[in-house]
Amino acid sequence: MSQQFDVLVIGAGPGGYIAAIRAAQLGFKVACAESNAYDDPKGEPRLGGTCLNVGCIPSKALLASSEEFENAAHHLADHGISAKDVSIDVKKMVARKDEIVTKMTGGIQFLFRKNKITLLKGHASFAGKTAEGYQVKIDGKDAGTVTAKNVIIATGSKARHLPNIPVDNEIICDNEGALKFGATPKKLGVIGAGVIGLELGSVWRRLGADVTILEALPGFLAATDEAVAKEAHKLFTKQGLKINLGVKIGEVKTSKKGVSIAYTDADGKAQTLDCDRLIVSVGRVPNTDKLNLDAIGLKVDERGFIPVDNHTCATSAAGVYAIGDVVRGPMLAHKAEDEGVMVAEILAGQKPHIDYNCIPWVIYTSPEIAWVGKTEQQLKAEGRAYKPGQFPFAANGRALGMGAADGFVKVLADANTDEILGVHIVAAAASDLIAEAAVAMEFKAAAEDIGRVCHPHPSLSEVMREAALATDKRALNM
Ligand code: NAI
Repeated sequence: MSQQFDVLVIGAGPGGYIAAIRAAQLGFKVACAESNAYDDPKGEPRLGGTCLNVGCIPSKALLASSEEFENAAHHLADHGISAKDVSIDVKKMVARKDEIVTKMTGGIQFLFRKNKITLLKGHASFAGKTAEGYQVKIDGKDAGTVTAKNVIIATGSKARHLPNIPVDNEIICDNEGALKFGATPKKLGVIGAGVIGLELGSVWRRLGADVTILEALPGFLAATDEAVAKEAHKLFTKQGLKINLGVKIGEVKTSKKGVSIAYTDADGKAQTLDCDRLIVSVGRVPNTDKLNLDAIGLKVDERGFIPVDNHTCATSAAGVYAIGDVVRGPMLAHKAEDEGVMVAEILAGQKPHIDYNCIPWVIYTSPEIAWVGKTEQQLKAEGRAYKPGQFPFAANGRALGMGAADGFVKVLADANTDEILGVHIVAAAASDLIAEAAVAMEFKAAAEDIGRVCHPHPSLSEVMREAALATDKRALNM
């Protein structure tokens, strides 16, 4: 008889491994299937998914290294510190990043053992359904068929590639290749001024690359609050990122010397960008093509996503759920994690709930960009009466001391009830500062609630309080 489980999770990324742990905590007999070995020297499947292996965590390691380099090379003098001949050993930087990834993936293996989760090494696909549950075929080291009463699909996404731009992850790279360059390219091209393009473009710019970003849309960071996008564009341009908006990519030719990208600029003029390497970061597509969903009567939508109930992540097959990048909503690790916890708790008969409006977004540039809730342009489009409050880091003593005076916090509150509707930050440590806003919004706080809470002085968090007070024109230090 095949192995039987209460819950089988397909995919061990942040959505899947967290779902498996929460389900195990709740007393279920759990298995989690994973097939992707990434760069594992022994070809063993690695836990942690895109986020841990080739996404959030390795990119943040490189962002930290490149920021240290940039500070040492260019900003220590402001503090009276002289550092001569600052250089970067890119191979060592990449090895440090790899060590962090290895440590973290090992950590998830430990958590699986601790929670008695069976790891099935191999690719899982549906084979059918019997009275005992769903039959799922595993191809790989743990080949065979397992049976599970409930299945959580958490197979994530892969980089979208463009037709006629073949990604070899040597010269033309997606997020995977761009994290393992052996040296800083002299000239780097990036297609797509989204999250990945800006983060990885920033890494290599700080290390000395001449970076040009080509973006199809006429506006910069169209999904962010306009004031934040404008400030970020100004700061990134000042740092030396060349951001060309409204372009149309034409022929891309590779040679031994590098890559040549023909494009039409916003004025309709033909241009060519020659560079050593090119990063293609134009979004991601869900990994749903090899799951044999037909076997259980499931169909994906026209973009490859699995349709699910908006509140429960249930698919139309009873007992089968889908979470994270394979379903609607933002492709964010923390959104996938929360959906994983939610589904495990639903299976246990609990009544969890996710407020998708309170999911924070972060772009890890320098300064960072973070937001939660509605943008000003969304509130205008909805015709909602709101009051904005904005406060700059340039008026915050801690920020000045840190040499982090760029940016601001902007709070948008309901004009009648004072409820916080959105918070937008461009600043150093915006990724941490936004958590206060997410907590406040989950508790339906008013701007006055944040204004009345004692914030530590001196700290960057005081800017959040001042911006909240500014919604009633009560900022104290401006
Ligand atoms: P993205 O959706 O953030 O940005 C893609 C950009 O490429 C868009 O601005 C789009 O207009 C542009 N584009 C699309 N086709 C184009 C073309 N033919 N020519 C020029 N520009 C074109 O996608 P990205 O940066 O690839 O990231 C993928 C996903 O990964 C995102 O959904 C993001 O949420 C997630 N991610 C999140 C991170 C974070 O939370 N900090 C970090 C990295 C990725």
